[in-house]
Amino acid sequence: MRLELRGITKRFGDLVANDDISVTFEPGQIHALLGENGAGKSTLMNVLYGLLTPDAGEIYVDGEPVVFGDPAGAIEAGIGMVHQHFMLVPVFSVAENVELGAESVGAFGFLKAQSAADAVRRVSSEYGLEVDPNAIVEDLPVGIQQRVEIIKALTREAECLILDEPTAVLTPQETDELLTIIRGLRDAGKTIVMITHKLREVREAADVITVIRRGRVVAESVSPQTSQSQLAALMVGRDVSLVVDKPEAAVGDEVLSVSELSVYDVTGRALVDSVSFQVRAGEVLCIAGVQGNGQSELVEALVGLHERSSGAVSLGEVRIDGASTKRILDMGVGYVPEDREHDGLVGSFPLAHNMVLDSINEQPWSRFGLIDYAKINKHGADLIEQFDVRARSADVLAATLSGGNKQKVVLAREMSRSLRVLIASQPTRGLDVGSIEFVHRQIIEARQSGVAVIVVSTELDEVYALADRIAVMYAGTIAGIVDPGISRDDLGLLMAGAVAS
Ligand SMILES: Nc1ncnc2c1ncn2[C@@H]1O[C@H](COP(=O)(O)OP(=O)(O)O)[C@@H](O)[C@H]1O
Ligand SMILES: [Mg+2]
Repeated sequence: MRLELRGITKRFGDLVANDDISVTFEPGQIHALLGENGAGKSTLMNVLYGLLTPDAGEIYVDGEPVVFGDPAGAIEAGIGMVHQHFMLVPVFSVAENVELGAESVGAFGFLKAQSAADAVRRVSSEYGLEVDPNAIVEDLPVGIQQRVEIIKALTREAECLILDEPTAVLTPQETDELLTIIRGLRDAGKTIVMITHKLREVREAADVITVIRRGRVVAESVSPQTSQSQLAALMVGRDVSLVVDKPEAAVGDEVLSVSELSVYDVTGRALVDSVSFQVRAGEVLCIAGVQGNGQSELVEALVGLHERSSGAVSLGEVRIDGASTKRILDMGVGYVPEDREHDGLVGSFPLAHNMVLDSINEQPWSRFGLIDYAKINKHGADLIEQFDVRARSADVLAATLSGGNKQKVVLAREMSRSLRVLIASQPTRGLDVGSIEFVHRQIIEARQSGVAVIVVSTELDEVYALADRIAVMYAGTIAGIVDPGISRDDLGLLMAGAVAS
């Protein structure tokens, strides 16, 4: 199926999310749509899938103009979409999920002639998907759940498959398997559109690349042989360095020591299960792993945000488990939370106030109960300058900033304090390549100044760029603490639960 988008424009209020975009997807090709966060990729695909109505532009299927009022129309035309967040019913079986909603899209093809289970088996074996139709979805690993979404589209006779950031939740091995499946679909003549911001995968999988920046096509028919740095430059519009310069580590004394730390959920189940490690001054310990293996709870426990935990955490000689978050931060622990929107900033406060969030009632920002706003504003303005926050002034409200700039504000606040430990959770999630470069530099700078740094990341490129040592979390435990010389394959195996040798 040849799919052509011509002159698509989509506005949200004043924002032009898609600005006169034209692109053609050919059958038998994997077409990567590459662009940084907020470039307009999902918007374009939602237009194509009938979820959004464009303000201008046309869609052609095999040369014929089409208008999709809703996804049912797109599905009927042979377009399937695998969303970033799966849309499966967890307690249903694979077959039940595939059957679900089939009527509303016409119940054609496979599903008319045979049972859903047979359809799953047939599609599954035809494309090497290896999914058991009777398995319950919630028991399946994420990578297999994603295949269920693909099967669902294929049983509806999709000729074009759109995958929106399909590898964001996968281990390296699952990613490889997915790419193999996609190649098989391509070879069977399907039209594949893969949305991503990951340069490595684009170069590995794509037959052709279109780069989108700020709602516009900035490069078309780009070859997958193009270097990562050239692709990054196209995405961002300037040269960026993809790997931060990292001087030799000058490792000092042990600063943070964690011993048999466990964290429990309300039912008493261990989400973090007797984890022990140490971090020394001047080193970066990266905690790698697939999302949801206890990393978030571990970090929450370290900074005193989790009520149900056991074990010991020491900062130098002082036990800090059981201490309040405020006290832990005051003792020199910097914290960049995973969810900067909710935990890192107060959106309705100006930037300057966010820069002194936990200490606004203390010296030097307040004296004798009087808040020194002039001083706080000056401090805010200085940090905005120093951390390259793109905002008009320190008066603007935090909520109005983009993700990358919000993250810079959190980093600026934490790093302007006197730190012994910096704990950064997913510090670059959702950031564009340019902001990632900046954040990585700040983290390495903290390491150079002798701070003991913990970075939690699900992105292997980030782990390799920053880590002096890598602790891999799997199912609440540390599967191994390894040297960053470890291969991606071996690291991926640890992430999938293999035991370090
Ligand atoms: N429903 C919406 N309402 C308002 N703004 C939106 C909506 N969806 C997306 N946007 C904005 O449109 C721009 C493009 O978003 P999106 O297509 O999701 O980017 P990408 O998928 O490339 O990360 C962003 O600035 C985003 O905030
Ligand atoms: Mg998107």
